[in-house]
Amino acid sequence: MELTGSIEEVRKQMKAWRKEGLSVGLVPTMGYLHEGHKSLIDRAVKENDKVVVSDFVNPIQFGVNEDLSTYPRDIEADKKLCESAGADLIFHPAPEEMYAPDFSTFVETEGVSAGLCGKTRPTHFRGVCTVVSKLFHIVMPDKAYFGEKDAQQLAVIRRMVRDLNMDIEIVGCPIVREEDGLAKSSRNTYLSGEERKAALVLSKAVFAGKEMMEQGERDVLKIVSHMKALISAEPLAKIDYVEMVDADSIEPISVAQGRVLTAMAVYIGTTRLIDNFIFTCS
Ligand code: PAF
Repeated sequence: MELTGSIEEVRKQMKAWRKEGLSVGLVPTMGYLHEGHKSLIDRAVKENDKVVVSDFVNPIQFGVNEDLSTYPRDIEADKKLCESAGADLIFHPAPEEMYAPDFSTFVETEGVSAGLCGKTRPTHFRGVCTVVSKLFHIVMPDKAYFGEKDAQQLAVIRRMVRDLNMDIEIVGCPIVREEDGLAKSSRNTYLSGEERKAALVLSKAVFAGKEMMEQGERDVLKIVSHMKALISAEPLAKIDYVEMVDADSIEPISVAQGRVLTAMAVYIGTTRLIDNFIFTCS
C-alpha cells in the first residue's frame, strides 16, 4: 500500500490503473479511522480492483467556532487500518495541496443542505461538496463509499452527483455501532466516561423511534415527541434537533410515508453527536 500527499502522484497512479483496465473505488474520510470507516473500505475492496482512501481533515467544512484544530488525527494508525483492510493507496494531502491561498470556487447544493445539520452548520455542506468534488476530479473513481450515519451528507452528495452529471456510483453503507448501541464516530473520543454513558440516549431514542414505526405509528409528532422525551431525561444531553424528513429531499414531513429519515443531533456536554435511522413505510 502506498501513501502520498501529492495530487500529481495520485493522478499518475490513476492513469496507470486505468491503462490496465482496473476499476477504482474511493473512500473519502477525514482520518482517525474506526470500524465504521473499515466497513466502507471492506465493501470498496470487494467491489473494485483498486481502492483509494482519502485521509484529509477538510478545513472548509468546519465553522469558525467548531473543532478543526482539535479534530483527532493519527495517520500511523490509519495506515495500519487501511493496509489490513486491503486498500491500495492513501491520499493524505496537506491543506495547501488542496487549497490555493486565493481559492475561491465552491460547490453548493440548495434545499437538501438547508435543514437538519445545515441549520446549525450553515457552511458545512458547501465545504463537504467542494472537497468531495475535488476528490472526485483527482481520483475519478467508478464508485465512492459513504456512511449512512451522515445521512444528510449522503443525500447531499447524491444530489450533487445527479445535478452535475458526475459519472460515479455513490454507495451508502450501514451505520456501525458499538456493542452497547452508540454509533461509531471519531468524535466519540471527546467524551469523558460519564458523557460516554450519557451518549447512549441517542441510540436508545433511535431504537425506540424505529420500534414505533415498525409497530405502525406514522404520526411524526408522536414519534418525535417520544424520542425527545427520552433524550431530555438525560441531564448531560441537550437536543440540537430531532426531526423526521423525506430521506431524499430532506424536506420536513408531518405524516410518515415513503422513505423517511429520522435524524438527530444532540450535544453531550460540548460534543455534538448525530444518529439516525431510515424507515421505508409500506
Ligand atoms: O464524512 C466525512 O468524513 C467528511 O465529511 C468527508 C465526506 C470525508 C468530506 O470531508
